[in-house]
Amino acid sequence: MLSSEAVPFAKTGGLADVVTGLSRALDRAGHEVAMILPYHRRFTPPELAGEPTGRAVQAPLGRQSVQGWIRRSQLPDSRITAYLIDHPGYFDRSGLYVDGGADYPDNAERFIFLSRAALEVCDAFQLRPDILHVHDWQTALAAPLLSVLYRRRNGLQTTRSVLTLHNLAFQGNFPRAVLELTGLPVELFTWDKLEFWGNLNFLKAGCVYADRLTTVSPTYAWEITTPAFGWGLEGVLRHRGAALTGILNGVDTEHWNPARDPYLPQPYTIHTVEQGKARAKEALQREFGLAPDPRLPLCGLVSRLTDQKGLDLIAATAEQWLTAPAQFIFLGSGERRYETLLTDLARRAPDRVAAVIGYSEPRAHLIEAGADIFLMPSRFEPCGLNQMYSLMYGTIPLVHAVGGLADSVTNLTPDTLAQNTATGFVFYDYTADAFLGTLRWGLATYQNRDVWRALQRNGMSQDLSWARSAERYVEVYRAALASA
Ligand code: ADP
Ligand code: GLC
Repeated sequence: MLSSEAVPFAKTGGLADVVTGLSRALDRAGHEVAMILPYHRRFTPPELAGEPTGRAVQAPLGRQSVQGWIRRSQLPDSRITAYLIDHPGYFDRSGLYVDGGADYPDNAERFIFLSRAALEVCDAFQLRPDILHVHDWQTALAAPLLSVLYRRRNGLQTTRSVLTLHNLAFQGNFPRAVLELTGLPVELFTWDKLEFWGNLNFLKAGCVYADRLTTVSPTYAWEITTPAFGWGLEGVLRHRGAALTGILNGVDTEHWNPARDPYLPQPYTIHTVEQGKARAKEALQREFGLAPDPRLPLCGLVSRLTDQKGLDLIAATAEQWLTAPAQFIFLGSGERRYETLLTDLARRAPDRVAAVIGYSEPRAHLIEAGADIFLMPSRFEPCGLNQMYSLMYGTIPLVHAVGGLADSVTNLTPDTLAQNTATGFVFYDYTADAFLGTLRWGLATYQNRDVWRALQRNGMSQDLSWARSAERYVEVYRAALASA
């Protein structure tokens, strides 16, 4: 498992949760998993930084050869060895990819290094994986590197690559000059291989060369073959359609489980949800300085504050929901304009709106448990994890019908209510009116306790664990091996 981030070593988003959740589930199912990750010195807690192995790898980068040192660590509560690639020049930084809003100018070089160093680690430690599973643009290049340069190397002849696409909006699109650093032959710089409108596109290269492609929900697997969601890669994804599978992410139930969540005042199950959530709501209102009123429906949001996450809809409808009989709690960071918008709204209605700009695991858990409605109006959402946490915590998700949101939340209708499948509130057009109408409907439904309990029950009885999704990945791995 090769990734640029994985919890608990380093995390910027869902990618880190997924890499670890899947690895653990594979481990539990009896497969032998190793992780290869950068050693992000400022993010990896010291007790997880492992031991130096004393071994170095040399990664060719253009005419240079760049050395990285390998540390060996362990993913807690697993049999999984994590090889951490230590190169302070590349990875001892204040951010993983971005600093002060701008991408690091040497990101291409950093992640070419990571991909090459990972393949060298396989060599140095005699890892002979059946599958090299890579994630997103940061490690996508390992797929062409394996098939063009490393396939014949000791032990990697039969290794097959799988690339998981977590978000097509980030592709690693770099000037042509970067090609030289990769060591890949110039002849491959053509429109059907590495080239993308004159640039070298890491994600496209991965899409072309990986033996199998997966993405993180069935709906997104289809969406990305269309211009609206493919960000220019829809053509290559259609071309590779037979090799592309959508598998819904699971939830890491070690960390997200209301029955044993250390961040809640009182853990709860489907049988004690009413009391458990009431306690959590009260704690949440206190923590965020809102009026401790149990009757007002409370809406929560935990998110990167970007356009992807539907913040423009929240902004466009603010004047309307601000006067609704409800409370709102926002936790996130991202684009400055959204940070300002939310803190301004909180200032205008301090007993009903709270906004905390920043990143906080404990608060994210408390919001998932204490809110009544969880807002996820994303413009696009490859999978999304928070709506699944919400389902498990008896918090009703309100979502736009895209990607993994469409696959994990079932809209409340008379039929779905009768069939006990309704789990949330879904809007279909990405417009301010549709969002606001659905929000109003959700707030009104809160007053109907029978329907509310049914929604909670249905959500809380879903199996969202990784075990099932991991089985689907194993099928993909087997298909990749069969194609050898
Ligand atoms: P994405 O990876 O696109 O940001 P996901 O829903 O897949 O979206 O995953 C986001 C993850 O990051 C979740 O685990 C969520 O709880 C967490 N997260 C996002 N923002 C914050 C925040 N401000 N504080 C705490 N956790 C956050
Ligand atoms: C990306 C997507 C998110 C998904 C996560 C993990 O960050 O934006 O929808 O849940 O990857 O796969």
